Amino acid sequence: MALIYDKLYVVNFGDCKGIGRCGTCHVRLPEDAEETLLIRSGNEPNTLGKMTGVLPTSRLSCHMPIDERLHALRVEIMQDEEPGLY
Ligand code: FES
Repeated sequence: MALIYDKLYVVNFGDCKGIGRCGTCHVRLPEDAEETLLIRSGNEPNTLGKMTGVLPTSRLSCHMPIDERLHALRVEIMQDEEPGLY
């Protein structure tokens, strides 16, 4: 989330500032993404479970650690139909 937030201007992105409740930082990873990047944590499963357009490759970017696995990774930034799921 921090990388996207700092480099791009996406309206309403990261509304809850990373606590995993708003879902506005929803991203989809590529089908061939490293398996460990697809492991959801914290509030993520619950929040994604309330949202539409969620795929097995969906993550809340605020719950993805910044490490070498993100190098050259391309993600699709999703603009949820129902932003602000607090
Ligand atoms: S910033 Fe709200 S869920 Fe990620």
